[in-house]
Amino acid sequence: MKVLVATEKPFAAKAVKAITKEIENAGHQVVLLEKYTEKSQLLDAVKDVNAMIVRSDKITADVLDAAHQLKIIVRAGAGYDSIDTEYAKKKGIIVENTPGQNANAVAELVLGLLVYVVRAFYNGKSGSELMGKKLGLLAFGNVGRNVARIAKGFGMEVYAFDAFCPAHVIEEAGVHAVPNQRALFEQCDIVSLHIPATPETKQSINFELVNLLPKGGILVNTARKEVINEPELLKLMAEREDLKFVTDIQPDADAEFAKFEGRYFSTPKKMGAQTAEANFNAGLAAAKQINAYFADGCTKFQVNK
Ligand code: 3PG
Repeated sequence: MKVLVATEKPFAAKAVKAITKEIENAGHQVVLLEKYTEKSQLLDAVKDVNAMIVRSDKITADVLDAAHQLKIIVRAGAGYDSIDTEYAKKKGIIVENTPGQNANAVAELVLGLLVYVVRAFYNGKSGSELMGKKLGLLAFGNVGRNVARIAKGFGMEVYAFDAFCPAHVIEEAGVHAVPNQRALFEQCDIVSLHIPATPETKQSINFELVNLLPKGGILVNTARKEVINEPELLKLMAEREDLKFVTDIQPDADAEFAKFEGRYFSTPKKMGAQTAEANFNAGLAAAKQINAYFADGCTKFQVNK
């Protein structure tokens, strides 16, 4: 079988080596398409492959149509909003993700962004501390749970709301469960977003919701830029000079947010999961899932059933 690793944002070299070894040991062949810049390169590369490993690469209907032999796509990561999963399903192509494999990397970055913002972006001026502050997690999946673990080490009080995770599960993890997302924004000093981009969540982080944050509130986004209603957040930040926003996903309106000096920071490229360890774990898991599928039809992590 031919397995294409198509990563516009490449894996660390160590991860590529591990993926290649895993796939080749199972008797399959690896084709690498890294740092591609044109969609035509992807369309060309998918023509004769049986499986694909991708990151946030956009796997749209035309890519699926060009991939005549494709049986399975594994997204080495959590979010699969970049893949047309429904169209893949219609074509009988299995789509899987590798949940949890890069969660710690994203969680560590959340705390990194938080230290950076409360210490005035390391500009030498006096800042504040995270200890004792209330941190709200919007969604309690793999990333949210890891953020909770690390934040507790900082002495933060952690709260969470997750529409799909019962309150008792949140409480069992030593985190305060709140009944809805409004309560999370009302009760916490900082809210960190860990929701996927779905029709329900897109644009859901709006003026009304963020305005519930108390004075000096901080919004952290390492989820997806689509979940934020950017025009409304811009309007709110213009009205409330106490609010801060930090993210590793550059908003479309980055230049406008950048005008809020000392209250906004974005990494130039999405980098939550951009560590050697996360690449290795997610990439290797993807390779193993592909091997398992070809060996015995295992589809344990399928997301388009
Ligand atoms: C994910 O959904 O797994 C993260 O957002 C990481 O995405 P990336 O592989 O594009 O960095």
